[in-house]
Amino acid sequence: MNKVIEINHPLIQHKLTIMRDKNTGTKDFRELLTEISMLMAYEVTRNLPLEEVEIETPLVKTKANIISGKKLGIVPILRAGLGMVDGFVTLIPNAKVGHVGLYRDPETLKPVEYYLKLPKDTPEREIIIVDPMLATGGSSVAAIDVLKREGAKNIKLVNLVASPEGISEVHKYHPDVDIYVASVDEKLNEHGYILPGLGDAGDRLYGTK
Ligand code: URA
Repeated sequence: MNKVIEINHPLIQHKLTIMRDKNTGTKDFRELLTEISMLMAYEVTRNLPLEEVEIETPLVKTKANIISGKKLGIVPILRAGLGMVDGFVTLIPNAKVGHVGLYRDPETLKPVEYYLKLPKDTPEREIIIVDPMLATGGSSVAAIDVLKREGAKNIKLVNLVASPEGISEVHKYHPDVDIYVASVDEKLNEHGYILPGLGDAGDRLYGTK
């Protein structure tokens, strides 16, 4: 069964509260999302394996730890997921970045894949899917389906805000995927928006409507 890891560091809570405020504009919203993503990346990578190497300081030879060849892939779900990429790659500059684009077919209501570009060695990478909002869970489940179809074996999902309904949906179809969130909010409304939430993350990030 997947774990839900709530990363509720005071800095994250403070920044998220400003993001939720409807009076926060695009520039601040974007910067705050990057800052929170960086703080989340710190936690998400907490268990990366280390290996000891020999180095020489200006004074002596010594042994010290480096991250042990673990290859990471950051995969934003378009479009709002893009807002989390900079924070992650600032802390993990050697990570490759893939992209998954999904839209909901208005008739079948099923997610349809319209764009996919992944690192060549996706099956060997630890994949971190990023999307600020885990609402109904439909696009997250579909994105994980796509990544598994392309051979990914080790997947984490990172969201800023999640609904209990979205978490249950991911649990149901992908019990092996751990979910990292800054907040689990109350519920979804009848239009699939998270309450209290922060509105449409993509629109607030890019200043669209
Ligand atoms: N997508 C968003 O951007 N916000 C929500 O509340 C739900 C889905």
